[in-house]
Amino acid sequence: MNLKFSEIPSPCFVLEERALLKNLRLIDHVQKTAGAKIILALKAFSMFSTFSIIRKFLSGTTASSLNEARLGFEEFGGEVHAYSPAYPENEFNELVHICNHITFNSMNDYTKYKSMIKKAGKKISCGLRINPEYSEVKNPMYNPCVTGSRLGLRAESITELPEGIEGLHFHTLCECDSFALERTLKAVEEKFGKFFSSIKWLNFGGGHLMTRSDYDVNHLIGLLKEFKNRYPHLEIILEPGSAVGWQTGFLISTILDIIDYGELKTLVVDTSFSAHLPDCLEVPYKPVIRGATILENQEEQKSLQTYRIGGLTCLAGDWCGDYIFEKTPQSGDRIIFEDMIHYTMVKTTTFNGVNLPSIGIIRENGNFELVKKFGYADFRNRLS
Ligand SMILES: Cc1ncc(COP(=O)(O)O)c(C=O)c1O
Repeated sequence: MNLKFSEIPSPCFVLEERALLKNLRLIDHVQKTAGAKIILALKAFSMFSTFSIIRKFLSGTTASSLNEARLGFEEFGGEVHAYSPAYPENEFNELVHICNHITFNSMNDYTKYKSMIKKAGKKISCGLRINPEYSEVKNPMYNPCVTGSRLGLRAESITELPEGIEGLHFHTLCECDSFALERTLKAVEEKFGKFFSSIKWLNFGGGHLMTRSDYDVNHLIGLLKEFKNRYPHLEIILEPGSAVGWQTGFLISTILDIIDYGELKTLVVDTSFSAHLPDCLEVPYKPVIRGATILENQEEQKSLQTYRIGGLTCLAGDWCGDYIFEKTPQSGDRIIFEDMIHYTMVKTTTFNGVNLPSIGIIRENGNFELVKKFGYADFRNRLS
């Protein structure tokens, strides 16, 4: 359905095809120039209505579960990789039929499933996730190398690689630059380099935010090339998610009411931080709103009219603040949260029965296409 911008339903995730293509062209340039393979991490971006575009650039997907693997297999095609902290027994058989690459988090999990892989009747390349115990990610919630991390094998726990292991996988970055990767790679090489001659591939995980405007793409390419020169037999795989969906769209919402307690005004919108933008509460971070500025300074907050944005659930903490607006907000006005495609869309829930935002695309020619609308059935089907 083609609509004018003002007719886009609210709330709605809106992806801009032009921005997605810009990201994909840059990622494609990196993989071609550096001689690496880049696949899409579905945990960050699973908007399958765009897969026909993405598959022109990327050769496959990586999944964290059977459901994601099926989505990659059925909707994207190409290579299907998987990594999970542990694989449920009732899902593994199906996973084996779908995947080309499976990375295991522990020796136990590999030992448990290796005979099923041998009997699969097709080639599956197996790998182990390693923990280089080096990560520059400050927030422990997103740092897989924190003390006690369950994610990946530490060097001391591998004396030799078990038979059948063809690759190693590390994931220690989150919205990082290539210099963090360079330092990480050094730690990986120091701790696990002794195994490189016995493997065929090394997966550098995700977290490479190469589409952010200040990312030094040439430095990344140089780094990958230099690594490849030293280990020409190794296939280098990168599996970013955020970099694909980075700044490719927004979430439109509408002001339903304004709760006014004098100095504290709350714009109640038809979306929810808890149900639709959970990272704002979890990370936490304050989303950029079109036509508004975030005021951190308490003195300024006293002298200027600030607004909180209040979510639609009755969770007391379902709000974000404090914003000043270029134009005084009125009931019925739209509030546009920027950069809400990667991670946000895959994390939505129907908490409080709040309806899920619709999903649409602004095509390259400027036409808006509504691709999905949700309703009662979607809410009910998750329950019983
Ligand atoms: C194993 C693995 N690969 C890839 C990714 C994608 O990371 P990003 O979206 O930051 O690029 C993640 C994210 O958590 C991950 O855990």
